[in-house]
Amino acid sequence: MIAKTSAEVGGMGHSLKRKEDLRFIRGKGNYVDDVNLPNMVYGHLVRSPYAHARLKSINIEKAKALPGVLAVITGEDLAKANLAWMPTLFFDKQMVLATGKVLFQSQEVAFVVAEDRYTAADAAELVDVEYEELPVLVDPHKSLDPSSPILRDDREQKSNHIFHWEVGDKQATDKAFQGADVKARVDAVFQRCHPAPLETCGCVADHNPATGRLTIYLTSQAPHAHRTLFALVGGIPENNIRVISPDIGGGFGNKVPIYPGYVCAVVASLTLGRPVKWIESRSENLQSTGFARDYHMTAELAASKDGKIQALRVKTLADHGAFNAAAQPTKFPAGLFSVCTGAYDYPSAFCEVDGVYTNKAPGGIAYRCSFRVTEAAYLIERAVDVLAQELKIDPADLRRKNFIAPSKFPYKSALGWTYDSGNYEPAMKLALDKVGYAELRKEQEEKRQKGELMGIGISSFVEIVGAGPSHTFDIAGIKMFDSCEIRIHPTGKGICRMGTKSQGQGHETTYAQIVAQELGIPAADITVEEGDTDTAPYGLGTYASRSTPVSGAATAMAARKIREKAKKIAAHLLECSEADLEWEPGKFFVKGTPSKTKTIQEIAFAAYTNHPQGMEAGLEAVDYYDPPNLTFPFGTYVCVVDIDKGTGEVKVRRFVAVDDCGNIINPMIVDGQVHGGLTEGLGIAFMQLIDYDENGNVQGGSFMDYLLPTAVETPHWETDKTCTPSPHHPFGAKGVGESPNVGSPAAFVNAVVDALSHLGVKHIDMPITPWKVWTILKEKGVVS
Ligand code: CDP
Repeated sequence: MIAKTSAEVGGMGHSLKRKEDLRFIRGKGNYVDDVNLPNMVYGHLVRSPYAHARLKSINIEKAKALPGVLAVITGEDLAKANLAWMPTLFFDKQMVLATGKVLFQSQEVAFVVAEDRYTAADAAELVDVEYEELPVLVDPHKSLDPSSPILRDDREQKSNHIFHWEVGDKQATDKAFQGADVKARVDAVFQRCHPAPLETCGCVADHNPATGRLTIYLTSQAPHAHRTLFALVGGIPENNIRVISPDIGGGFGNKVPIYPGYVCAVVASLTLGRPVKWIESRSENLQSTGFARDYHMTAELAASKDGKIQALRVKTLADHGAFNAAAQPTKFPAGLFSVCTGAYDYPSAFCEVDGVYTNKAPGGIAYRCSFRVTEAAYLIERAVDVLAQELKIDPADLRRKNFIAPSKFPYKSALGWTYDSGNYEPAMKLALDKVGYAELRKEQEEKRQKGELMGIGISSFVEIVGAGPSHTFDIAGIKMFDSCEIRIHPTGKGICRMGTKSQGQGHETTYAQIVAQELGIPAADITVEEGDTDTAPYGLGTYASRSTPVSGAATAMAARKIREKAKKIAAHLLECSEADLEWEPGKFFVKGTPSKTKTIQEIAFAAYTNHPQGMEAGLEAVDYYDPPNLTFPFGTYVCVVDIDKGTGEVKVRRFVAVDDCGNIINPMIVDGQVHGGLTEGLGIAFMQLIDYDENGNVQGGSFMDYLLPTAVETPHWETDKTCTPSPHHPFGAKGVGESPNVGSPAAFVNAVVDALSHLGVKHIDMPITPWKVWTILKEKGVVS
């Protein structure tokens, strides 16, 4: 083994490079990095250049001697306070600062605090760590080999196996496969990728020694849950913690976990009695914070000769990196992956997933995804296309033949979910009509005759969003409901406070619209506030498209409670009984006498000035909404691609996205959500991969390697909608935010495979780079 110090190997991209420090490309706002408090100091993390190495020694003397340096904290220091490890959201524990050894490149080893951020970065380079390299494990398929190193010697279980999880009827599924006319199989990797939000993760921890209060400005998608976890793990009374999540520049699941940098900033602030700011660099964000996917999946479909699907069998290996820090409900080790039955009706299915450790960054977060739904939708939509190829049936016809019939809703899937509502065929028809499917197929045939390559990819995805219900869903033990508190002021204006936290999804507009819809108060008269635990009602936060299904529902329910009270006040003012009143948005009037009316604004004024005897003053309500079921949005996406044979470059010619999220609150916001999610899907399908070499060095650790689509690569998105309301949601809405990210990867890949299917190509793993396509064309003798 070679022992090297961090000084010898040099900073590996994680060090702050003054001018090149691309933390955050942003517009105008009120972000964590904008928080500047008197006496504030700055933290910087020292990170491991090795993926697996024993820590032989850490020398902090040179760093401490640098003028302006206030403290250098190591894992040993944290161990004395029992804080060297922290629990993850999924029954594992994770090192805050390494003790003993490091388990992935860029792991947090020490935390330097200095008067300014540049001194902190310079001092971090002076922390001299001596490492002894250990054998590295990067391939999850080798995690369980007896010859592979055991990574987590802190665990009782001496193996790299984390969990085995299965669902469905194995016997019935195996039997269906035995008797099936046709079997189709796809081995598909949903590669490790990263949400890469515009703003990286960061915080300002401000412990006031005089009051004992700890205020944490945090890039948090779930401020209340984070406050509770800080209280439980840090032992600080929860009433003395205030988490403020101001504007955050995108989250996409990246801002759900608690990261070591947050904990270090809190510890430093408690130690120094000064506010401590820690903002990670772009490379730190890509290399060490919650990655997404890394699912290595096999799907098999059994079908009759005429294309009726009879069973689905799925086996998956999940690479969780060094710690199981998946952010998902505790009863679901593989998230909601079991929605992989998709939009199709068949009696048997069986799905099993094994999670394993490797020397990679921890995570398994729900990147714009309801906990592994993206992987599930991608898998079934690829598998259906492979079956269509096997059967030589048009992929649209095969889907049509197997869609769950509208009359079967609520529909219980073979893996146990009850889909609330769906009508898949019209959504597909609309998409196919819009794109001109029949003509495109003719064009494809003609092009093939001429040796040109074009493909059409369909994805008819089904989603599962809006966790709770609380009897089944919890995160770290906290039940998954959500909340809204509405206060109407005497002049009829109001404030609406939420347990969720927008990251740019437009909650400020849409929640106000729900109040407007329910109470007839103009949306402009309603202020929406989220993200401050001192003022907002308790909630589980925003991720997994849960805001509309849960907090949107809470908003409607709270508004309806207000309407109930308003009715009593109106009856008092109009000197009639409540039964004599009728409501139309904005006012109550006496049945048959529309001139006898009281507007909601007049009623609000009376609630503080002239309310009935015995009634409490004020006009406000709070609702903690526990949904009876999840909502199941769906849609069909159709992608048309042309492939340049000379370069292997894929050009997306058309992309038609038909979404169904039930009743829509704001069509423009929904379209914006779809455009954004499709652009992310494009990046995943064609550009993005967090890869590792055999030594565990991260290959996708900067925007030079981890590519984001720009306007140049992004096609024009054509969107449309069908509307199938959720029967259990108060106003029939389903979530939409993640649908385009969930549904689009399969459409892109199906289109490329379709373009090459006559050459015998059945599957290509993402990202589909020009090099990959060109290599296939060369193998197939299309180019020399
Ligand atoms: O939880 P998150 O806000 O990310 O996702 P969502 O509930 O799907 O909502 C995303 C945005 O789309 C919000 O501003 C919603 O209010 C809006 N939306 C809508 O206008 N109509 C729907 N049926 C669903 C969402």
